[in-house]
Amino acid sequence: MRKLSRNDPCWCGSGRKYKNCHWKQDQAARRERRSVLGKMQRSSRIIIKTEEQIDGIRRSGQLTRDILDMLEDRIQPGITSNDIDRWVYEYTIAHGAIPAPLNYRGFPKSVCTSINQVVCHGIPDDTILREGDILNVDVTSILNGYYGDASRMFTIGEVSDQARQLAQVTRECLYLGIEQVKPGNTLGDIGHAIQQHAESHGYSIVREYIGHGTGLQFHEPPDVRHFGEPHTGLTLQPNMVFTIEPMINAGKCQVRVLDDAWTVVTVDGCLSAQWEHTLRVTDDGVEILTA
Ligand code: MF3
Ligand code: CO
Ligand code: CO
Repeated sequence: MRKLSRNDPCWCGSGRKYKNCHWKQDQAARRERRSVLGKMQRSSRIIIKTEEQIDGIRRSGQLTRDILDMLEDRIQPGITSNDIDRWVYEYTIAHGAIPAPLNYRGFPKSVCTSINQVVCHGIPDDTILREGDILNVDVTSILNGYYGDASRMFTIGEVSDQARQLAQVTRECLYLGIEQVKPGNTLGDIGHAIQQHAESHGYSIVREYIGHGTGLQFHEPPDVRHFGEPHTGLTLQPNMVFTIEPMINAGKCQVRVLDDAWTVVTVDGCLSAQWEHTLRVTDDGVEILTA
C-alpha cells in the first residue's frame, strides 16, 4: 500500500489536502508511537538471562571470588599494588580466564587497587602498602565469555578505628542493598537502603559511579544507583543480573579524576571505601553470584 503523501486528498473524505486536514494529528500519533517503542526497546535492553547464561556467569563469579580469597593471606604490609596485579593476572590466566580490566577502554592493568582516599579505578603501581592503609581490590573475570565482578576492602595491619568503621559500614551498605533484591522490589529500594545506612553514620555516597547490569558484557543496563527513593525506578524481575557496589566517603561526596584519566579520588582527601557483588534476582529473592 502506498503511503498517503501530504498533497493527497485526506483519508477522512473532507476533500481537503491531507496536509491541511488530519496530517498534523496523525503526525503526533506517529511521534507518540515511536517514543513508546523507544522506551520499550530501552527497557528491553536489560537482558533477562537464560539458565545457560546464569550458569556461565556463576562460574565466572566463583572464579572472581576465588581470586579475592587468594589475595586475603597475601595482602599485607610491604607488598605493592603491582604485586596484587601480578597475582590476579597469573591466577586468572591459570584458570582459563581473562582479567576484564586489562586493556578495557585503555585501562593498563588486570585489577583496580584503590588505596585510602582513592574512590575507585586505582591503577596498580610500585606503591608499597603500609600499616594503617585500607584498600579496595576490584576483580572482574571473563570466563568462557561471561563476566563476574566483585570487590572487597582489605586492611593493612592495624588500621585506625575510623578506617575500620568506614570499611565495615560500607560492607553493611552492600548487604542492606542486597537484602532489597527480590522480584517486585525496585532499584530505588536498593539505593534507598544504602543511602539511609551510610548517611546515618555521617558518611556520604559517591554519585558519579554506580552499579550496573553485567554478565554478557562488563557494563550493561540497568544503572544501579546507591541512593534513591523507595518504590521508584526499574522493577526487578527474576534472572536480571547486576552489581551493587557502593562507594562511601568518610567526608564529602565530591570526587575528581587524576591526570592519568582513571584514578578517582575524594576532593577533600578523606578516606573512601567500596564493596561489590554480582547478584541475580531469583524467583523469591537473590543469589550472590560472586559469593
Ligand atoms: N570493576 C569495575 C566495576 O565495578 C570497573 C573497572 S573498569 C577498569 O564496574 F577499567 F578500571 F577496570
Ligand atoms: Co562493577
Ligand atoms: Co568491579
